[in-house]
Amino acid sequence: MYSRWAGHCDGCGEWNSITEEVTSAPPIGGKASKTSSRSGKADRVAFVPLSGERVRSKRLVSGNAEFDRVVGGGLVEGSATLIGGDPGIGKSTLLLQITAALSTNLRCAYISGEEAIDQVRMRADRLGCTEAAVQLAAATDVRDICAVMESKDAPEVIVIDSIQTMYLDLLDSAPGTVGQVRASAQELIRLAKRCGIALLIVGHVTKDGAIAGPRVLEHMVDTVLYFEGERGHPFRILRGVKNRFGATDEIGVFDMTDRGLQEVPNPSALFLADRQDGVAGAAVFAGIEGTRPMLVEIQALVAPSALGTPRRAVVGWDTNRLSMLLAVLESRAGYRIGGHDVYLNVAGGLRISEPAADLAVAAALVSSLSGEPVPAETIVFGEVGLSGEVRSVSQTETRLKEAAKLGFTRALIPKRRSGKTGGLSGMSVTEFSDLSGLQSLVGSYTGPLSQGPDA
Ligand code: TYD
Ligand code: MG
Repeated sequence: MYSRWAGHCDGCGEWNSITEEVTSAPPIGGKASKTSSRSGKADRVAFVPLSGERVRSKRLVSGNAEFDRVVGGGLVEGSATLIGGDPGIGKSTLLLQITAALSTNLRCAYISGEEAIDQVRMRADRLGCTEAAVQLAAATDVRDICAVMESKDAPEVIVIDSIQTMYLDLLDSAPGTVGQVRASAQELIRLAKRCGIALLIVGHVTKDGAIAGPRVLEHMVDTVLYFEGERGHPFRILRGVKNRFGATDEIGVFDMTDRGLQEVPNPSALFLADRQDGVAGAAVFAGIEGTRPMLVEIQALVAPSALGTPRRAVVGWDTNRLSMLLAVLESRAGYRIGGHDVYLNVAGGLRISEPAADLAVAAALVSSLSGEPVPAETIVFGEVGLSGEVRSVSQTETRLKEAAKLGFTRALIPKRRSGKTGGLSGMSVTEFSDLSGLQSLVGSYTGPLSQGPDA
């Protein structure tokens, strides 16, 4: 914060990145408040007990199961939802489809500040939703939009695409600057709450993810969703990162087709579609995303390096976690990986954050190193600790069930604390308490796997 004009930011070292924000109210504790007496103001804040009448907010269900689940069972009246994501990932497409679906029994408005009416109509044509009763507008002035929100017969759902194009004439700065983004959003959110409108705000994530991007808005809205996907992959993931009305670890999976986003009710089958059995360096991880089990293939390539500092490249997993796992494999399980380049890829463009993926990654790495495939029709999960121990993870049964449903017959899993043994019918389960167990399975693989404790 600077009290006068400055060209150079001491915080980040950038030039011309500071924008002016005019505040008209005197600071608290300043002149104005000194003159007023204290006692007269004590009752301005009305306190109430914790118990009392509650109004249950109505859920606006779109019928798009993936979207509804991620927002916690439908959008909430009078709430603000931010949808962040890289430009071109499909935010406008998703929101147009959602508003079209909601418009069958709600008044919905789609306000575009980025595209002309014609462009949005063209997209609607492509999505086959031209008949939907969505009210469309191209506008960027927040005051005009606010007037609409306060009017009689105001829309019940409003999409603002995107917040970076909106401006409030109170501020001198250009649309897209931190000041404008914050002030515009504040105004829109305030009115949405007062008028009971479900507000959906699109925010582009800038390259560094910080400046004027959705980050400055995250604390102002009720729900933050990120729309992600790898370029070149058709799969798109809608991920909840904050939700005042539901769980945050849910994801929705979509397939971007030439006719818009299709829901993917069974992601495991999709993520495993191109998988080949019997290839060294691949392991199937049985993960949990939110309330849903999800199987994905983890691929590793470990090859002798010609470089002084071997390469480590990761797509879809945490680089630091990989470094840790490599160190554990090297010092606790005796694998010599130090002089090798290591490439790791989560197939299908999914990003995994669960620690339960450790054992599957380890199996893929060891398998690539040894050239021995992980036994066929096998799923793997378990967390790996620094001393090489394999730790149990939650929802073992759910993971096993999903694997069995998709035709897997073997599972490599952590030793279960419940003392429960045996798998589901038709599935043999091998339990690990440390990484040494990997050696016999993929390190120097000699025969079919059936030596599990309860095979
Ligand atoms: P868009 O929704 O405009 O992205 P954002 O609003 O996040 O910037 O999506 C643009 C991309 O989606 C574009 O590359 C084309 C692709 N797309 C399809 O593949 N199929 C479709 O039916 C539509 C409408 C878009
Ligand atoms: Mg867009």
